[in-house]
Amino acid sequence: MFDLEKITRKNVRLMKAYSSARDEFKGQADIWLDANENPNESNLNRYPDPLQLSLKKKIAEQKKLPAEQIFVGNGSDEAIDLLFRAFCEPGQSKAILFPPTYGMYEVSAAINNIEVVEIPITNRFEIPQLDVIKPFLNCTGLLFICSPNNPTGNCTSSEAIIEIAKNFDGLVIVDEAYVDFSNAESATALIETTPNLVVLQTFSKAYGLAGARVGMALANAEIISVLNKIKPPYNMNTLSISAASEALENQSVINSQIQTIQSERERMKAELFELNNVVQVYPSEANFLLTEFTDSEKVFSALLNEGIVVRNRNSAIKNCLRISLGTPTENNQLITTLNKLQS
Ligand SMILES: Cc1ncc(COP(=O)(O)O)c(C=O)c1O
Repeated sequence: MFDLEKITRKNVRLMKAYSSARDEFKGQADIWLDANENPNESNLNRYPDPLQLSLKKKIAEQKKLPAEQIFVGNGSDEAIDLLFRAFCEPGQSKAILFPPTYGMYEVSAAINNIEVVEIPITNRFEIPQLDVIKPFLNCTGLLFICSPNNPTGNCTSSEAIIEIAKNFDGLVIVDEAYVDFSNAESATALIETTPNLVVLQTFSKAYGLAGARVGMALANAEIISVLNKIKPPYNMNTLSISAASEALENQSVINSQIQTIQSERERMKAELFELNNVVQVYPSEANFLLTEFTDSEKVFSALLNEGIVVRNRNSAIKNCLRISLGTPTENNQLITTLNKLQS
């Protein structure tokens, strides 16, 4: 049986959270002399709301989840680090990964002195069947499923996520950084019935706010309250909170950008596949295309010489480059350059 208290790091369980001026008084007032701020009014002279409630209200509406089930952090990278700090005991707990996948899981594990257990995805880029991974689930810690996966672009089914979560006493973290580009159902629908599930989402990809650093962890309220207990008091700044709120208010603009990226994805998949030195363009539910070349190192450096930067994934998946979808003009330039390089 999953027991959150049992997996919460002992010092975190026992500590008392910092209580900021803005935590202690939240009502209406005319004169604020409680937080040693500069009294000259500007947009930024006051500390932000430590729990970002106005933003969470909007996220809650969109995700159909109560605000208590939402953590907002300085990118999903902050949520990943806090999950390690809250729910892993250094030197004891493990991080179970399915490589190749997003690199920060391993880095955060190393920072927190957590041993990484790697179970490679299959040659169809799928997480292996339960009987293969079950022997590795005999521990506590964090298990990461990136869906759609970076860099392979494919999703893991809800059934597989539920099956794994039922067989693991630690937390299953489903990283949905790219979910807005996918037609697959979000794992947020599973939160109510899966007590050890945390879903990560971000404003960095579809919402166009990579520079603002706004990420989310969505989970049951007990998990979220532990993350809130250990986060820095004002982890989100006023400018980023309003940028994310504004993006949610302009959902129709975001939707149309997503549609363009999705149709560019299909167009580029076909265009890349036409090239003689392209072996394979993998199906993608994200905003990038994992593309196998006959000689990826050669293509990678030739593109760099032409001022085009893509991500070289050759070390993880032989001869593969991960190519983000740009604007239609940028995508055309990429194809023109790749064609030129062949002649
Ligand atoms: C799978 C995945 N998760 C998380 C992140 C980081 O997201 P954020 O910008 O919210 O920290 C990335 C960024 O590339 C990513 O690929």
